[in-house]
Amino acid sequence: MTAMSTASTPVFGLRDYVHAIESVLERRPSNKVIIREISLATKQLCASDRWLEERFRVGNPDCYTRHLLHRDTNNRFVVLALVWMPGQMTPIHDHSCWGVMGLIQNTLEEICYERLDDGKRHDFAELDMSRGTDVSQGGVAYLLPPYEEIHRIGNTSNKPTISLHVYGRDLDEVNVFDPVTGKVNPMRIKYYSPECGKTPFVI
Ligand SMILES: [Fe+2]
Repeated sequence: MTAMSTASTPVFGLRDYVHAIESVLERRPSNKVIIREISLATKQLCASDRWLEERFRVGNPDCYTRHLLHRDTNNRFVVLALVWMPGQMTPIHDHSCWGVMGLIQNTLEEICYERLDDGKRHDFAELDMSRGTDVSQGGVAYLLPPYEEIHRIGNTSNKPTISLHVYGRDLDEVNVFDPVTGKVNPMRIKYYSPECGKTPFVI
């Protein structure tokens, strides 16, 4: 008799995902290959949400929350779960690293920007909106410096959203862009997790 797939079939979980990322990075491939292969693993992880603990699903009515799920011991990457209440949105920001985003629950809107100036000034940037996309459960999006890494994302739906993010560095500071004045300001960001303190901190 052939065994049937049942509810007891092992789910590709966070530990499997971390191992998959580690095995990609150990080969030291280009950023393009990194995001392509980690996108596949991200789709696999986001196919189910059974692996995500309740404590990492906690949102906040005042701001979206950033739960740190894993920090690589060699500082090569971090994995986060972000919880977005309806209407919550980031400012326009950059990353200075590769990144992949997957949707665990519901939908996020991503608006991407292209930098039109030469990037030589640290406090000024001229931006042009290049595209807007809705990323839904099962979909992924990526960041690929230096040209594809400025965006804003947010929950424009009327239900809570949970997204998964992996970044090629410990993302503790980003640049925030004002599209009207062109001003660029560095901003510190933190995580919201029980072990990181009770105060959620937003960019
Ligand atoms: Fe971002």
